[in-house]
Amino acid sequence: MSFVHDLCVIGGAGHVGLPFALLCADDGLSTVIYDVAETRLQQIAGGEMPFFEEGAPEMLRRALASGRLSVTATPEPIADSRVLVMIIGTPVDEHLNPSFVAIDRVLERIRPHLRDGQVLVLRSTVFPGTSLRLQRRLREWGLDIGVACCPERVAQGQSLREFRTLPQLVSGCEPRALAAARDLFSRFAPSLVEMEPTEAELCKLMTNAWRYIQFATVNQFYMLASAVGVDFDRILHGCRHDYPRMQGMPGPGFAAGPCLVKDTMQLAAFSHNHFMLGHAAMLVNEGLPNHMVELARRRRDLRNETVGVLGLAFKAESDDPRDSLAYKLRKLLALEAREVLCTDPYVDDPSAVPLERVLAESGVLFVATPHRRYRDLVPRPDQLVVDVWGCVAPLAVEQPA
Ligand SMILES: NC(=O)c1ccc[n+]([C@@H]2O[C@H](COP(=O)([O-])OP(=O)(O)OC[C@H]3O[C@@H](n4cnc5c(N)ncnc54)[C@H](O)[C@@H]3O)[C@@H](O)[C@H]2O)c1
Repeated sequence: MSFVHDLCVIGGAGHVGLPFALLCADDGLSTVIYDVAETRLQQIAGGEMPFFEEGAPEMLRRALASGRLSVTATPEPIADSRVLVMIIGTPVDEHLNPSFVAIDRVLERIRPHLRDGQVLVLRSTVFPGTSLRLQRRLREWGLDIGVACCPERVAQGQSLREFRTLPQLVSGCEPRALAAARDLFSRFAPSLVEMEPTEAELCKLMTNAWRYIQFATVNQFYMLASAVGVDFDRILHGCRHDYPRMQGMPGPGFAAGPCLVKDTMQLAAFSHNHFMLGHAAMLVNEGLPNHMVELARRRRDLRNETVGVLGLAFKAESDDPRDSLAYKLRKLLALEAREVLCTDPYVDDPSAVPLERVLAESGVLFVATPHRRYRDLVPRPDQLVVDVWGCVAPLAVEQPA
């Protein structure tokens, strides 16, 4: 069966889809990006990255110049693509349960362009059983399309490096789909881990839930210590210094963003709400902004203060504000303080003001995102700094990301 393109990345203008599409085009594969985000598609076609990703601007230029990368907002090119890699967002709904709407919507939209002989690779993080459900759906439609599940595990912002250094999870609902996944990912990855589709789906969710729980554990330790005025940085140093069994202990900080919480909640839904550790982790991590406000309230009457929030992105050196706890902190402070000023060097948020103004006008500074440039800050003697990250006095430990 002949196809014009090697692959089409569905959701290819996204934070994970775009770097993957660039990598494929750079590696010699004829690659189409299909996405509904038209503004982003225009930026990509014009050689501009819509968000920060290390090494991506040069790769995008190369990919466009090679003629191997094209973009489309309409699904017709799907019919011309041998492999379809789906990497759309997979949010949880208002009850924190997985939502299948996004995947169902995209399937309905591309249905007229699906062809026998194609392979659909699910790269999104999905609720366990989704791959088999997809396979059933395609069969009901009378289509002979293989389904593979190869969940993405890269850290946003560093995907291009990580694609080439991390093992890839690969699985297929049929031997043909598994073979296609092996072919695709062995081009970049140092090694492959073969699994059953449901194992791969669970493996991805458990990886994120594990990290989320680890961050919650250390965040709770931080809250226990700081509530009674004990310096947690010194405890952390004591735990880790020359003590191999504690080297994996992360530092405290906001654990949020577009993946960790929602993936932990997908696992909770999968366990019929018996994933107690997951729910406990959410209570702790989501409670950290409240704790920071409480620490400040004990030392200052916030009603008389202008307060500054440093950082809006969900993690350091990122321009991505999705599900960032900085916004929760801002909301809490809006109820307490005279005025709240926010700043971020990377996030495009019309409500943000320049750092200089925040520093000049704020009596209390909250570090919400540990961007590198905040490490050189020298607060005025009258300024209170509430800094869970130890960013203003840096800690040499892994932080939530
Ligand atoms: N962000 C991360 O660090 C990360 C890491 C590993 C895995 N993941 C997983 O990867 C998936 C994508 O995450 P993301 O951060 O790239 O999300 P994103 O929102 O940045 O990208 C998703 C893209 O899908 C597009 N899209 C949505 N509906 C569509 C439709 N019907 N048709 C075509 N395109 C559509 C959107 O326009 C968007 O460009 C999620 O399942 C996420 O959990 C994310």
